[in-house]
Amino acid sequence: MTLDAFETTGSSPGTGDPDPSAPGGPPPSAAIPDAASAGESLYTDIIHGGLQPDPATGAILTPIYQSTTFVQEAVGVHKGFTYSRAGNPTVAALERNLGQIEGTPPALCFATGMAAISTLFLGHLRAGDHVVVSDVVYGGTVRLLRQVLEGFGVEASFVDTSNADNVAAAIGPRTRLVFIESPANPTLKLTDVAAVAEITRQSGTLLVVDNTFLTSVLQDAFGLGADVVIYSTTKYIEGHNSTVGGALLARDEKLLERLRLVQATVGVAQSPFEAWLTLRGLKTLPMRLARHSANALRVAEWLEAHPGVTRVAYPWLDSFPQAELARRQQRSGGGMVTFEVEGGTAPALELMRSLRLCSLAENLGAVETLVTHSASMTHAALTAEEREALGIGDGLIRLSVGLEEPADIIADLQQALETALTGVEAAVATAHAGGAR
Ligand SMILES: Cc1ncc(COP(=O)(O)O)c(C=O)c1O
Repeated sequence: MTLDAFETTGSSPGTGDPDPSAPGGPPPSAAIPDAASAGESLYTDIIHGGLQPDPATGAILTPIYQSTTFVQEAVGVHKGFTYSRAGNPTVAALERNLGQIEGTPPALCFATGMAAISTLFLGHLRAGDHVVVSDVVYGGTVRLLRQVLEGFGVEASFVDTSNADNVAAAIGPRTRLVFIESPANPTLKLTDVAAVAEITRQSGTLLVVDNTFLTSVLQDAFGLGADVVIYSTTKYIEGHNSTVGGALLARDEKLLERLRLVQATVGVAQSPFEAWLTLRGLKTLPMRLARHSANALRVAEWLEAHPGVTRVAYPWLDSFPQAELARRQQRSGGGMVTFEVEGGTAPALELMRSLRLCSLAENLGAVETLVTHSASMTHAALTAEEREALGIGDGLIRLSVGLEEPADIIADLQQALETALTGVEAAVATAHAGGAR
């Protein structure tokens, strides 16, 4: 897949962009590559890879084969499908498409992202095995390891993988797998994927990258050395808040065969309708990601300049502690921004309550702008102390910047910030007045 299209996506800070919230500011579409400059195969693979018109009818889109079972000519004589828990033509089309995009054999597609992660762990690990995991990862992955797999004798070490030396130090004789997320949910902390891949190669450990936040369009995880790539297709890949789903890709056919057996046995395959919606959403992934990134950069720059915002994390900002690494391994900043407001938790909660255009909801990577309170929503499984140590404070707001007009997103944030900060000032004044009485 040719990916040059994204190397220039998003402006760097200091390019002299006018106030993005001002009417008539430059349209974010300026950062979206046109098809001619995008590299043919990126768009072509995503739209056509592994797909062909329906042989029975000529339908240009793969039909939804909503069928439990497939009639066999004789015992053992069939057209490749027997029962939809083990395989379905619509799901298989999505699996071929994703494989072609990544340059791997067909993917395995699952009912959810967590089903993909669970199948990998169940299929590759045994009692007594050890895994090394990024200390900041999606809360469900932590829950799976601590509250489910620990009981089956799998031990996990959560380490700060942003320093590759920590990975090397944590790998022991029983370590079978290193699992990283970069950027991490929700702090956006990065891990140097190539540096960790060097370590896992030497130790013979499987490197798994959860590439949900960027997808291969913005971060070529296999090119950087991953052995397995995981997606929650619920996010950018489907992109329209319509489905939940997951995918797993690998080059090793033997590993894929083992995982396909576990998937069919446990019963966690994707459904044909969800697969069809995902196939449809996927066709516009590069265009959506370009605009998500351009919008997110505009919003992050605006937030950074706001006096009521104390901290903004976005990999394409110069102030981002790992900005150099971001530009080395990513093609743009992606659509996720996190920030904290003056006064901490109370104004953060008030801000989220006051939004009108942006929605307070648990998901990311879709066309609508969503805000999430990570401490109480996606990362509630961690203790308050653990969250604080990882930088997931109670005042942290995670913003999945959508595809709306960025000036409208900014105007909504502006009015919500004003409400939130005024509310805090009023509370402080009341407290002072009460104290004086
Ligand atoms: C990075 C990441 N990985 C995996 C998952 C799990 O995916 P799903 O919700 O589709 O099970 C999520 C969900 O938010 C996520 O953000």
